Amino acid sequence: MSSTNEETAKLIIDGKEYALPIRIGTEGNRAIDVSKLYAMTGHITLDDGFANTGPTMSMICYVDGENGVLRYRGYRVEELAERCDFTETAYLLIYGELPTGDQLEEFRTNIRVHTLLHEGMKRIFAGFPPQAHPMAILSAVVGALAIYDKDSADPVDPVQSELAIYRMLAKMPTITAFCYKQSIGQPFIYPQNKLTYCQNFLHMMFAVPSEQYRMPVDFVNALNVLLILHAEHGQNCSTSAVQMVGSSNVNLFSSISAGICALWGALHGGANEACIKMLEDIAADGRDLGKYVDRAKDPDDPFRLMGFGHRVYKNYDPRATIVKEICHRLVDKYAADDPLFELAQELEEVALSDPYFVERKLYPNVDFYSGIIYRIMGIPNNMFTALFALGRLPGWVAHWREMHLAPGKRIHRPRQLYTGHSEREFVPLIKR
Ligand code: ACO
Repeated sequence: MSSTNEETAKLIIDGKEYALPIRIGTEGNRAIDVSKLYAMTGHITLDDGFANTGPTMSMICYVDGENGVLRYRGYRVEELAERCDFTETAYLLIYGELPTGDQLEEFRTNIRVHTLLHEGMKRIFAGFPPQAHPMAILSAVVGALAIYDKDSADPVDPVQSELAIYRMLAKMPTITAFCYKQSIGQPFIYPQNKLTYCQNFLHMMFAVPSEQYRMPVDFVNALNVLLILHAEHGQNCSTSAVQMVGSSNVNLFSSISAGICALWGALHGGANEACIKMLEDIAADGRDLGKYVDRAKDPDDPFRLMGFGHRVYKNYDPRATIVKEICHRLVDKYAADDPLFELAQELEEVALSDPYFVERKLYPNVDFYSGIIYRIMGIPNNMFTALFALGRLPGWVAHWREMHLAPGKRIHRPRQLYTGHSEREFVPLIKR
């Protein structure tokens, strides 16, 4: 859903004029199409951190960072979080429309029948040392699905691709919960297909064979909303990684594994874990908020306020508003004595009244409060980013599928401006 304007951008190099087409998105946002620039002019574009580069056109997600707007396939994320189930949202993201009742039931059944892992995969978990980070295990085991589920590894075969999508969505909660069970030395709890997606995940995380597990409905609902809020966000680092890797025509599982690795970093999905760690450090250090805000402002100190700032949002992240509301409800009911929520709110207040943060338009992002909710649910800090991965999975899958269905799909292969040595003569080892 884009159009090419009559309008072109004029580029003059060495007195010669070139016309570059302007593409216009549905919301009026505009892009100069430079895909033929090198062929036309012998020049490439330089764009540090891809801050200004659109590697693709996409119909999946619209983010207006200036106004704090986020929509999946045209629907406001606030509305989806209030009225949808996570699997319904996943269907919407992947296939483009909200499902009918029958479509949703069929989709859920297709996921349900694939929730088990091959028994041999349990030996992969057993091979990791006890302190291994769950994100390392998650990426490794998801990558290993390519070996166990070979009959769905061809991304250009539409039947295999669909099967891979169901398997990926089905097995991700099982793998994520098994990562946790492995880390605490408890037996793996197998999926129960009569449960919903979120119930099943919490069951596999917290049930033990010796006792009946009763999960608070508030936790199921909170998880449902958190997964929806994390489900998609355009060309973020991990989604771009999934696309970059997937563009080589490798299988879906390997592409998702790459996304999990990208998400792990503290500047991306790892921020939720880093944020709780930061709040704990501030609490242990006498709650001296001013000291930490000063450190965050100091250009010579690498410390940053985790859970603050965003490449795209220059306004309050709409997801953070919802997460904060859930936090309020759960803290009141289950964790009135948790000091971190109060501390987080005080930190937000101090930062948002400081010109440094105001001028740079740095607001809390989705990760600032999400860790507090996970703590209340009993999820340990080192699992937070794995929960983010579970939520982001439909977005990754949707972009992977959109890329493969796009006419003229090409391998992603950026260029670079070489700034190293010109050709020089080899010096033998003895003379160096
Ligand atoms: N604390 C203090 N200063 C910050 C912060 C922060 N959290 N974020 C940005 N700034 C400052 C930068 O130092 C820079 O200052 P300058 O102009 O004086 O040099 C200015 O704000 C612009 O920041 P950039 O680093 O250029 O912003 P960029 O778009 O590259 O980075 C990012 C965005 C990575 C999210 C950054 O804000 C950050 O590191 N935040 C903390 C980590 C975090 O919460 N990540 C989660 C992001 S959301 C997600 O992935 C789900």
